[in-house]
Amino acid sequence: MLNYLVESQVEEIKKKLDIVDVINRFTPLKKRGHHYLACCPFHQEKTPSFIVSPELQIFKCFGCGKAGDVFTFIEDFERVDFKEALEELAKMAGIELKHDARFAQGESKRQRLFLLNHEVAKFYHYILTEHPLGKSALDYVLNRGIKLETINLFKIGFSPPYPQLITTYLTKKGFTVPELIASGTFGQSTYGRRELYDRFRDRLIFPLADFRDRILGFSGRVLPGAKTEMAKYINSPETDIYHKSQTVFGLNLSKEYIKKNSVVIVTEGEFDMISPYQSDFKNIVAIKGTAFTTDQLQLLRRYADTLILALDSDFAGNNAARKSIELADSFDFDIQVLILGKDYKDPDEAVQKNPAFFKKQLEHTVSIWDYLIDSAVAVTDPSSIKGKKQILNTVLPFISKITNSVIRSDYIHKLADAIGSTVESVLDESKKISPGRTAPAVDALAPPVITPDSRLDRLEQHLLSLIFSANKPSILARRIKKKYTFSTPRFLSIFTLLLKQKNYQLNTFTSKLPPELQSIFQDIYITASGLNLEPLRRRLEITKIINLILSQNLKKELESISRELSLAEKIEDSAKIEELETKYNQLLAGLSRLQTNKI
Ligand code: CTP
Ligand code: MN
Repeated sequence: MLNYLVESQVEEIKKKLDIVDVINRFTPLKKRGHHYLACCPFHQEKTPSFIVSPELQIFKCFGCGKAGDVFTFIEDFERVDFKEALEELAKMAGIELKHDARFAQGESKRQRLFLLNHEVAKFYHYILTEHPLGKSALDYVLNRGIKLETINLFKIGFSPPYPQLITTYLTKKGFTVPELIASGTFGQSTYGRRELYDRFRDRLIFPLADFRDRILGFSGRVLPGAKTEMAKYINSPETDIYHKSQTVFGLNLSKEYIKKNSVVIVTEGEFDMISPYQSDFKNIVAIKGTAFTTDQLQLLRRYADTLILALDSDFAGNNAARKSIELADSFDFDIQVLILGKDYKDPDEAVQKNPAFFKKQLEHTVSIWDYLIDSAVAVTDPSSIKGKKQILNTVLPFISKITNSVIRSDYIHKLADAIGSTVESVLDESKKISPGRTAPAVDALAPPVITPDSRLDRLEQHLLSLIFSANKPSILARRIKKKYTFSTPRFLSIFTLLLKQKNYQLNTFTSKLPPELQSIFQDIYITASGLNLEPLRRRLEITKIINLILSQNLKKELESISRELSLAEKIEDSAKIEELETKYNQLLAGLSRLQTNKI
């Protein structure tokens, strides 16, 4: 979150650092006139089209379109978020970051929790690897084919059934009872001597680290022989530092390997990540379950373009999986599936029993859409009417939501082929099976043209949902109007109508909506009611989306000007060149101003 303190420090850092020096540390720059030039570090190229402007303190690549200031450069190059870029650049500039008192207090509490978790992990790990109390747990892990070296690398541990051992240890290290409780690992009984208990007692322990290797929390697995009513896995409760929805297990160890080829293998469980990693399939993580969250996808998107789903064999059968696939598709991942077949129930088992098979399957992954169609056809006879219906029912909800209309159209065709039918009747049948779900599939009939506008469409629709999720949407809309104009006609109409409301009331509003906008508004309204956002989070989201759209527009304009420029250069029209250059610089400046644009 940008407050005035952060903003003033961003300014201070920008004053102290020269973007040319900073970028030069990562990519050697050559001076050309007023500018500096290099081969773009963000895409493969032989002739340099990456330009750094010392006057404007910004960079721009004419090949791939990446552009921004020194902050964006670090964010994109190092694949870190704004806060991390701020820390790194402050260090480079020799500036000590100041925080306001409340922030500092919260931060130091978080730092204490990191320290405490570190000690907890160390203790559990010691018990597992060195203490007689951990003997049978250690045997269990070793028997599952996990080597001692791997146990050490992942700091796997065991929580003994005597909580005093660890609480005494932690108290001696200076941690207080409230701190122990705040860490989530310990609870306090509400009666008697109010003793502390260890949530993970008698469990095998996996520390859950973030991508910077800080331990946020733990998960614990029961050992064989435990009471059957005990959950197989439990995780830390939500704390100041642990948020389940943001956790991607193993990323601390795998991120460099993921980055290398922009490919990440995604598994469900801790062992499914650890075993392949140990067998040298290192670009791998676990999401701890089958469902993706937005945060997890966003994090993985920093490092990867391709997701290889290595989930348990039945994963596509449920609703959570459908939502996950839709979500991943909307993040523009190339989604592939690693097929384990019937012989192995999960990646852990496959790698342990047959690493060569795992390797082969990894080299022959199939696109998620092919996988969905093929597996539906394999289990259901496509020649009977009933079978056709069933296949459509399973597959069409996925296919009709594919974001890219070209790919969507391809797979509607493939689906029609697979059941020996025509595209028209697939669409027809789909309306009968699941009315309401089929809308996006309709344009599968349209000629396959690439529509970059569909992305804008989605962003604007989401923006409206965010607006309607506010308590007073019309007031928020008036603020947004100063910064942003909708370009999709139907959204613009809804937005304009909203602006006209003195006191927004859902009933009055829908009664004024023209009939052709009713259904899209319902969609927006439903999404809005599902968005449970703090006002501040909402404003940040809105700002993010607006800036994203505006910067995309600016980038498009920049590209077209640079095309005009090269034309003007060819015919040596110096007046035109100068005019275009001025326009170009203005746009670049506009682009860099977006950094601080807020609603
Ligand atoms: N999980 C969880 N909480 C549960 C159950 C499961 O967080 N109550 C997560 C764990 O990370 C687990 C993953 O979901 O590893 C998949 O669960 P499951 O398939 O049941 O277990 P496996 O990973 O096969 O566990 P194992 O190999 O240890 O038997
Ligand atoms: Mn398993």
